[in-house]
Amino acid sequence: MKSITLTPEMAFRGNLILVNADHPLRETVSPDKLNYFKSSEVLLERKTSLVLDNLFKAISCGASIVPVSGYRTLEEQKEIYASSLEENGADFTQKYVALPNCSEHQTGLAIDLALNQESIDFIRPYFPREGICEAFRRKMAVYGFIERYQESKEGITGISAEPWHFRYVGFPHSSLIQAHNFALEEYLDYIGQFPYEGNHLKVQVENKNFEIFYQKAENCQVQVEFPGYLPFQVSGTNTGGFVFTLWR
Ligand code: DAL
Ligand code: ZN
Repeated sequence: MKSITLTPEMAFRGNLILVNADHPLRETVSPDKLNYFKSSEVLLERKTSLVLDNLFKAISCGASIVPVSGYRTLEEQKEIYASSLEENGADFTQKYVALPNCSEHQTGLAIDLALNQESIDFIRPYFPREGICEAFRRKMAVYGFIERYQESKEGITGISAEPWHFRYVGFPHSSLIQAHNFALEEYLDYIGQFPYEGNHLKVQVENKNFEIFYQKAENCQVQVEFPGYLPFQVSGTNTGGFVFTLWR
C-alpha cells in the first residue's frame, strides 16, 4: 500500500478547486507555476497551457481561435470589476464578472476564447456553437476542459451562461462532468458521496478504468492509503476536501 499525507493547505490547490462567490480563492498562484500560452500575452497555469496547446493542435485551429483572457491577478480582477461596473452597470457586472478573489481566472485554470474576428469583446467574446468553436467543444473533455458556465446552471454557479469560458479540471473529471451535465459545484457534491472510508466511484471513461474517492480535510494532516502500483492524482477542492483519482 502507498500512504500519502495531506496537509490542510493542500485542500486549496489542484485542478479541481472550486472558486465561486461562496468559495473564494485561498492561495495566490506563484508566478513560476504560470506560462505564456503559445506566443500570446495570456498567462495560464503550466499544465493547462500545455494541454490547451495540444487541444488546439488536435483541432488544427491555427489562428482562428484567439486566447482572450487567462490568468488574472487580484488587482486585474478588481480593475475589470470596477471598470465593468462603470461601463456596464451592476446588473451586467454581477452576471458576467466574478467578484475579486472569487474568479477562476485567478487560478490560471480558466481561459476565455474568441473566434478570431476584427473586433473582440473582452468580457463577452464571441465563441459560437458551430464551426471551429464547436470542434473545440467536441474534443475539450478528453483534454480535461469543461464549459464552466452553462445556461440553466446560473442558480448554482451564480454566473450567467458564458459559452466562451473554459476551465481545466483534468480528465476523466471533465468527461464525467459533461456526461452528467453537471456544474462543477454539482460534480464535487456528487464525488462527496464516495468517501475514502466507503464505496469508491468505479467508472470506465474512454475505455480506461478509474477509481475516484473523496477525503475530507481536517485541521491537521490526514493520511490516505491505496495500492501503490496504481498511478494516481490528488486535488484539493477548496470546499474542505480532496478528490483522489486512481488509474486502474
Ligand atoms: N467572467 C468570469 C465569471 C470571471 O470574471 O471570472
Ligand atoms: Zn472567463
